[in-house]
Amino acid sequence: MTQEAHVSVQSSTGPLTTEAGAPVADNQNSETAGIGGPGLIQDQLLMEKLAHFNRERIPERVVHARGAGAYGTFTVTADVTRYTRAKFLSEVGKQTETFLRFSTVAGNLGSADAVRDPRGFALKFYTEEGNYDLVGNNTPVFFIKDAIKFPDFIHTQKRDPYTGSQEADNVWDFWGLSPESTHQVTWLFGDRGIPASYRHMDGFGSHTYQWNNEAGEVFWVKYHFKTDQGIKCLTQPEADKLAGEDPDSHQRDLRESIERGEFPSWTVQVQIMPAADAATYRFNPFDLTKVWPHADYPPIEIGKLELNRNPENVFAEVEQSIFSPHHFVPGIGPSPDKMLQGRLFAYGDAHRYRVGINADHLPVNRPHATEARSHGRDGALYDGRHGGAKNYEPNSFGGPVETGRAMWQPIAVSGTTGESEAPSHAEDNDYVQAGNLYRLMTEEEKERLVGNLAGFISKVSRDDIAQRAIENFRKADPDYGKRLEAAVQALRG
Ligand code: HEM
Repeated sequence: MTQEAHVSVQSSTGPLTTEAGAPVADNQNSETAGIGGPGLIQDQLLMEKLAHFNRERIPERVVHARGAGAYGTFTVTADVTRYTRAKFLSEVGKQTETFLRFSTVAGNLGSADAVRDPRGFALKFYTEEGNYDLVGNNTPVFFIKDAIKFPDFIHTQKRDPYTGSQEADNVWDFWGLSPESTHQVTWLFGDRGIPASYRHMDGFGSHTYQWNNEAGEVFWVKYHFKTDQGIKCLTQPEADKLAGEDPDSHQRDLRESIERGEFPSWTVQVQIMPAADAATYRFNPFDLTKVWPHADYPPIEIGKLELNRNPENVFAEVEQSIFSPHHFVPGIGPSPDKMLQGRLFAYGDAHRYRVGINADHLPVNRPHATEARSHGRDGALYDGRHGGAKNYEPNSFGGPVETGRAMWQPIAVSGTTGESEAPSHAEDNDYVQAGNLYRLMTEEEKERLVGNLAGFISKVSRDDIAQRAIENFRKADPDYGKRLEAAVQALRG
């Protein structure tokens, strides 16, 4: 459907009305005391319009504020019932409605799309057992591995309290002091750091999640969404130009391709680790700064995701959409990844603040293939959907009852409580996978990576901060550090 076809009046008959439905006589001139005199408080249309306008915004997302979304279909293409009992994955050919919101991370709501930044890949499956949200990125790893560092990290990506701008000093100070970021930073400043569009990039669940089957066996999984459009990226100069000429480039591309009937799709794969492997795997499988090399756990194709319908109303369906890593369905659950554990709290909390306590019940967020049957009630903008049904459980009036079966399997834990680092496995350190990624690159790719990094590091005002940042890359690979130091020196003079 074209853009024009969506531009319709709200209702074909009847006059313009106030919010309360009363007919409006004059929407051009406000009421005054005499011709040319001051305005009157009895002009309720003027009061109502000005007051409504003042309340049109809700707080933007504290991260991933800038984004675009579309509905689609997920189709199962392989039998995975030996790994998970999730009903939406129970049969080859089975289809589930989805909604996917793409985003950048650091920019504000009105910022440009074509920037060097990870892209959010937040996917909602409207399953018959409730909504399952997979809130990932276009990168398989992340900058940090403990949720307690997230607010500090994001503060360095956002605007400085004094200058009001993003500051290279803050970004590189934090990354330099957080060597676990070296892998993701290498990824971000490499060729895939600026996707040409949302359609031309992969998506990842990034974290490790639990799958469990009917027999109660546990598997650890990582999700991969491989773009069927092919990977296409922008160089820094191409992105700088596009961001200036068309700040909405990604959003427009997504909408227009769906309007043209060119439905973007992704091949969905999972890496599956039997639970018994986790303790002795060479990398901590719950460390978000690490991948599982494909040679260890080859990706298995399990489905196809297609986006085929644009939202009708961007505010209602994209701005008010909510995704939470704690939205699981039976057969799928969390892992002990310390980042994921923090996220299980953070999103619901953000939604209650940003959209409100009844956010789950808006059309884009509510279950589409089943209904929510909770005893949560009332609150701001409650729509009365429960009618006169009892609001407690257990009750003797035929209300919904618990199933007695947990969505995920318990896991064994040991030791004492404490603020400890996540355990290191045999080959774990903060640099090993960054170095491996660097050594996989061609000479030209290395040149561009070093050039991109040097361009940014050279903006740092203090030598010690720049030096510390460079040291991390040197520890990943001596050649990486040497070239970067030379490139930064050349730019700083
Ligand atoms: C402890 C670490 C993290 C915390 C505390 C955190 C917190 C948040 C918060 C508060 C939001 C805004 C939610 C809203 O207002 O609706 C958000 C959005 C988002 N986050 Fe995170 N985040 C973390 C790590 C991550 C990671 C590791 C990923 C990807 C692998 C990720 C992907 C996203 C995406 C895609 C969105 C946008 C969702 C949407 O489109 O509505 N975040 N995050």
